[in-house]
Amino acid sequence: RCSAITDLPESSPLVLLGDSGVGKSCIVLRFVRGQFDPTSKVTVGASFLSQTVALQDSTTVKFEIWDTAGQERYAALAPLYYRGAAVAVVVYDITSPESFTKAYWVKELQKHGSPDIVMALVGNKADLQEKREVPVQVSRYILDNLFLLIAYFIFHCITFPFPFMNDGIDYAEKNGMFFIETSAKTADNINQLFEEIAKRLP
Ligand code: GTP
Ligand code: MG
Repeated sequence: RCSAITDLPESSPLVLLGDSGVGKSCIVLRFVRGQFDPTSKVTVGASFLSQTVALQDSTTVKFEIWDTAGQERYAALAPLYYRGAAVAVVVYDITSPESFTKAYWVKELQKHGSPDIVMALVGNKADLQEKREVPVQVSRYILDNLFLLIAYFIFHCITFPFPFMNDGIDYAEKNGMFFIETSAKTADNINQLFEEIAKRLP
């Protein structure tokens, strides 16, 4: 029947970017299979999985997920995956300021990519609160200011440098992207991440 054709979910190519070890593959595994692998191996090249999200308004979105390799040696491959992407999810590890700095550069690259791309900035490993080195509040203030970013990178041992800083969510909204902290280990905010993306698709 014709309705069967119109009922097919729309496919959205989604690319995960970010430094090696931030937990991109674990986020995908949690989202697609509901599992967590503490011995997750580094991704070679990229891997592909798909998963469908059903929204409350009864629309469905099928994500075609490209989980890229974060290791430096694969850096040249990244544009192959984000060029055609409708969604870019840039992941860092809240215990690693280095990974946060790299997330910033990926974001810069994205500015020169597709103009209607949906972007998410994800601080993963939120279960490791006692090892946190990137405060939630850093996202807005520091990502906006290259000087502060470099200073923050140099003095990253100072975890809460600016008490007047606003929430990362504000920053994200201002820049047409959204910010969320997740844990692939505890499943915290993993489904919410993909639901929020699905809602923002044009
Ligand atoms: P590349 O494939 O090299 O780009 O790395 P990746 O970003 O895919 O990292 P991966 O998902 O393989 O995870 C790296 C390590 O972090 C693994 O040992 C995971 O078990 C661990 N890890 C991932 N997510 C979490 C999390 O939310 N919390 C904690 N505590 N550990 C995590
Ligand atoms: Mg991986």
